[in-house]
Amino acid sequence: MKINFINAQGLKSQHVVYIANSTLQDVFKPNDDLVYRMVNAALSANSEQCNHIYFPDNASDIKEAVVLNAGEKLDALRCQNAGASVVSAVKNFNNSVKIIDVVVSINDVNGLSDFEVVANVAYGLKLASYRFDKYKSVSKNDGCKLNNLKVNFIVSDVVAANNTFSFYDSVALGVFLTRDLISEPANNLTPSVYLQVIKHELEPLGVNVSVLDHKAMLKMGMGALLGVSQGSTNEPFVVTMQWNGSKNKKDKPIAFVGKGVTFDSGGLSLKPSRSMEEMKTDMGGSAVVVGLLKSLAFRKANVNAVGVVGLVENMPSGSAQRPGDVVKSLSGQTIEVLNTDAEGRLVLADVLWYTANKFTPEIMIDIATLTGAAVIALGVGYAALLSNNDRLASRIEKSAECTGELVWRLPLPASYDKHIDSKIADVRNTSSVLGAGTITAAKFLQRFVKDMDWAHIDIASVAWNNSSKKKISPDGADGFGVGLLNNFVYENYEI
Ligand code: BES
Ligand code: MN
Ligand code: ZN
Repeated sequence: MKINFINAQGLKSQHVVYIANSTLQDVFKPNDDLVYRMVNAALSANSEQCNHIYFPDNASDIKEAVVLNAGEKLDALRCQNAGASVVSAVKNFNNSVKIIDVVVSINDVNGLSDFEVVANVAYGLKLASYRFDKYKSVSKNDGCKLNNLKVNFIVSDVVAANNTFSFYDSVALGVFLTRDLISEPANNLTPSVYLQVIKHELEPLGVNVSVLDHKAMLKMGMGALLGVSQGSTNEPFVVTMQWNGSKNKKDKPIAFVGKGVTFDSGGLSLKPSRSMEEMKTDMGGSAVVVGLLKSLAFRKANVNAVGVVGLVENMPSGSAQRPGDVVKSLSGQTIEVLNTDAEGRLVLADVLWYTANKFTPEIMIDIATLTGAAVIALGVGYAALLSNNDRLASRIEKSAECTGELVWRLPLPASYDKHIDSKIADVRNTSSVLGAGTITAAKFLQRFVKDMDWAHIDIASVAWNNSSKKKISPDGADGFGVGLLNNFVYENYEI
């Protein structure tokens, strides 16, 4: 989808979408009075409904119009949702339509200027237009072909709209990469292929990509991560992505760590076959980190950021790690692996320790599809947030509110530490008591971050949408976290 901003004089497409919440403002008045009257009639007739109008022989150029009533009390997020509605609205247009105009005639939006309203509508439309159809021989998108559709937004201040939208557009670019990665089947996104994609996507933007291969990890002593990967024939990699965009090159970086389990069969603690296919999404946290770095680099963010992802496949085999095995992590702490399906924390243990020691970052945030318990605790509307630092946690909560990627903070009580004490090693990878699986997983991670300011975001509940009817993301990979973390970086480190 190609999005442009033009002023009202440029309005000339045969297919127009009107998004409004009262009668059309004068600047958008079409020269054909019939069109004007019918659009206004549609707007006053009903609220928040889509109307499709044909103008077979009218005097103006407009042949078809869709009218969407955006409703009252709009804010940035509701403007994005209004934009997302355009995707279903244009399904009525003929397949051969290649160009549409969108007129946004919305007033009374709290604190947003006209061009900000339009930029938010455009952002919502862009996010909602995503399709993962690379494996379809014939694209099944009905209505206008979204991929090739050219959309002109009518706005008075074209320059301002372009500037505002270019920030959102770089976020969308990151979100799309994240969605692509999560959607990709695990046979085609092994750790080594994933590594190549990261290089291909990020190096041209000026991101420095470096790699630890199996040999390097063995030498360093990443026994926790290597234990997870030892059942798979696919070699694991730890990939570091550095974006040094800060004006002050010496600024300590902020670090993002992602779980990149390209497929989680559970290992010898094999998962049941029902829904096992969803475990191709178990690299979702790493995909958010990669998408985030792409956004930051694309918009040349004024920040030093480092992303580190652990890419491994968790498989059962004759060489797989066994329940009961004890491994030695990079930190020196030994881990009793009681369940090979609690593998994400094993991967993160080594990657977190590595990141903290290698980069001494200002703060460290990890993001991971870590526990099914997060779905039990919060359902699909919230990711779980856990942190050892109140200020960091509240900054993340604020960005979550702003972007609509909601989080809910869970406690990290010291009294739960004993649940992960092992009888024979320093720590065990599952809790010894029932319940609070998301918290005990985070307690495990906490042992590998020392005293760093750190936050953990468990996105097991939100990385993948099953008929969630979320307007700005079609079913499938959501991209949850890219917008949130991008906002977090922008608000706290760039201005
Ligand atoms: N990748 C899963 C968590 C998950 C579950 C992500 C559902 C997305 C949707 C993780 O590796 C896992 O298997 N966790 C176990 C931990 C348990 C064995 C302690 C779980 O949540 O059941
Ligand atoms: Mn698992
Ligand atoms: Zn997993």
